[in-house]
Amino acid sequence: MSAERRPLVAANWKMNKTTGEAQEFMRGFLPGAAAVAEDVDVVLCPPFTALRTVAQMAQGAGVRVGAQNMHEEDAGAFTGEVSAPMLLELGADAVVLGHSERRQHFGETDAALARKVPKALDAGLLPILCVGETEEEREAGETERKLRHQVQSDLAAVDAGRLAEVVIAYEPIWAIGTGKTATPGQAQAAIAFVRALVGDRDQGAARSVRILYGGSVDPGNAAELMALEDVDGALVGGASLDPERFLSIAAAARP
Ligand code: PGA
Repeated sequence: MSAERRPLVAANWKMNKTTGEAQEFMRGFLPGAAAVAEDVDVVLCPPFTALRTVAQMAQGAGVRVGAQNMHEEDAGAFTGEVSAPMLLELGADAVVLGHSERRQHFGETDAALARKVPKALDAGLLPILCVGETEEEREAGETERKLRHQVQSDLAAVDAGRLAEVVIAYEPIWAIGTGKTATPGQAQAAIAFVRALVGDRDQGAARSVRILYGGSVDPGNAAELMALEDVDGALVGGASLDPERFLSIAAAARP
């Protein structure tokens, strides 16, 4: 956590919550959210179907809303896909791109991400780009190679002058949904490495770009992880489904 960068905490609900369940979450979340949102960028990423409802309810609380995926074209013959103008119309401010579950289960490629990230920026959506290594890659000493490949490829078409507008989430795949959080040392080292990769493109951007940690963040470990020098917040899955647990994580990001 650095005084230069405003913390950001994002909730990735994945394929959870009907619109009714999202409304129930918001009723529990909103009373405490506005105060936290004064000091922390708080982003809720519900499934597409609940985006409009969550965006409408979040208005006035300073809470932002994001999608979990986006196609890079505005419109066309891409069955099942959703575009940036569609998300903007629903009230989205942000979009998670390249989550490991999309890479693993839905064939999301670095080539597609290299188009999606600049598209999101051009459309006025805050891109939250996820990167991270598998357990086998970590054990084989391949973590840095993997991160270098993902960061360089996925941000290749982003102008150096706009790199600082991207949010990067370092999510070791072995820590996602497993209860096996990276140690503070592992998280700090990987995130400092990602920051240095941004620095290879632009030193100023490296100082400003916000890099989150994700992977089994919960109310018990959030403060320690977010206190790390290069960690600017968290991307939270499981623990973001409960309003009180997510509020307590977001509050832990307060500078
Ligand atoms: P988790 O998920 O917090 O449930 O580990 C994080 C993520 O996938 O973004």
